[in-house]
Amino acid sequence: MKALVVFYSRSGNTRRVAEAIASALEAPMEELHDLRSRAGLIGWLRAGLDAWRSAPTVIAPTREDPTDYDLIIIGTPIWAGRMTPAVRAYLLQERDRLEKVAFFSSCDSGNADAAFAEMRDLIEREPYATVAVSSAEVKDGGYTQQVGMFVHELLS
Ligand SMILES: Cc1cc2nc3c(=O)[nH]c(=O)nc-3n(C[C@H](O)[C@H](O)[C@H](O)COP(=O)(O)O)c2cc1C
Repeated sequence: MKALVVFYSRSGNTRRVAEAIASALEAPMEELHDLRSRAGLIGWLRAGLDAWRSAPTVIAPTREDPTDYDLIIIGTPIWAGRMTPAVRAYLLQERDRLEKVAFFSSCDSGNADAAFAEMRDLIEREPYATVAVSSAEVKDGGYTQQVGMFVHELLS
């Protein structure tokens, strides 16, 4: 199975989860770059507002063609209970070219069900598997067990 790990990360948690998944599957990664600044207090406030309003952003051109892969594994932090604008922009950009997908997330609560449901509805694809990791588990390393189970599900 040829898999691609696509993710957005503002402060590194989702990147760590993406790296663990990519390493376990020996899959390449495509990091999404939001061209709207999310740095500092103003960036943080705008981030929450844009996510809450379901506003997509402009992302830097992506490198990989998803049709070259059997599975696209898409990761997002949760902002205001939603997917990030960069991931929304990617899904809107690629939704006709995504076949088999899986979702992952890092967020403070460890619950991304609503965001995953919205991602599914946006691309009209049921994810093959999902995993939501809390930011505390990213920091203390506890996420590796969840990632292991997620990868196992993807390979089964
Ligand atoms: C603007 C903003 C809004 C957030 N809203 C939520 C939220 O609604 N629920 C939640 O559990 N975490 C929320 N978080 C926390 C992040 O989802 C969490 O820290 C995540 O691990 C960050 O991932 P990253 O380091 O890859 O950017 C929010 C963070 C930011 C910056």
